[in-house]
Amino acid sequence: MTSVLTRPELHRDRVPTRRHYVMCPPAHFAVEYAINPWMDPAVPVDRDLAHRQWDALRRTHLELGHQVTVVEAVPGLPDMVFAANAATSVAGRVYGARFRYPERVPEAAAFRAHLPGVYVEPRFVNEGEGDLLVAGDVLLAGTGFRTDPRAHREAARVLRRPTLSLELVDPRFYHLDTALAVLSAHEVTYLPSAFSARSRGILAGRYPDAVLATESDAAVLGLNAVSDGRHVVLPAAATGLAADLRERGFEPIGVDLSELLKGGGGPKCCTLEVRP
Ligand code: ARG
Repeated sequence: MTSVLTRPELHRDRVPTRRHYVMCPPAHFAVEYAINPWMDPAVPVDRDLAHRQWDALRRTHLELGHQVTVVEAVPGLPDMVFAANAATSVAGRVYGARFRYPERVPEAAAFRAHLPGVYVEPRFVNEGEGDLLVAGDVLLAGTGFRTDPRAHREAARVLRRPTLSLELVDPRFYHLDTALAVLSAHEVTYLPSAFSARSRGILAGRYPDAVLATESDAAVLGLNAVSDGRHVVLPAAATGLAADLRERGFEPIGVDLSELLKGGGGPKCCTLEVRP
């Protein structure tokens, strides 16, 4: 029996908004170092397959009506495909990234020229939209593994938005965008066990109706999802989460990024949003 919430006509209630994304092809993608538990340099990567999977994601965004700017990949920067880490853009202001590990440091500059708006160089370590997620009028800000908590205050000042700091505790979910996805201005989905007890309390208080993800959906990086307010592009293997989202009137769209998962990334990591 289909419940009222799964009737397709109700999807009309959710209004998508057109987005501008920045992506970078996995032309030089490789797993040459290990800076998160997903990365094992001994496991071979099929770069052609990675490219086909990435291109399917790009086409999905285009088919949904979004604009996609493609930034050329730079040799020697194998993680540059994970464009989301390069900056955070809000209302025409761009807070640049400052990567934690030296291997990724040059990526911020490689993206900079392609990001419209007033660019502000950061003082503190922060990995862009990996840890800074725009949720309506607030910035949800992750820390624990990559982004320095002092960057949360800096981001608030530069982007002129209040930040809500959240502490990550599970190394598999090292960036906020691996543990939580923003679905709409007021809705999120997250894995409670990825957060400290205090942060779980903050999330439960602010989002009492959040879609709580399961361990098995999070373990395929299901939370690394991109929502336009109606369509949610997420890893195809996150079937439980997709069903829950459909129940809430979202339209989940599964994509397979198995090769990029070897670098510890999914659809959201490959998608940086520009907010004019
Ligand atoms: N290998 C990259 C790293 O560990 C993956 C980044 C994934 N990006 C993201 N937004 N979670 O830095």
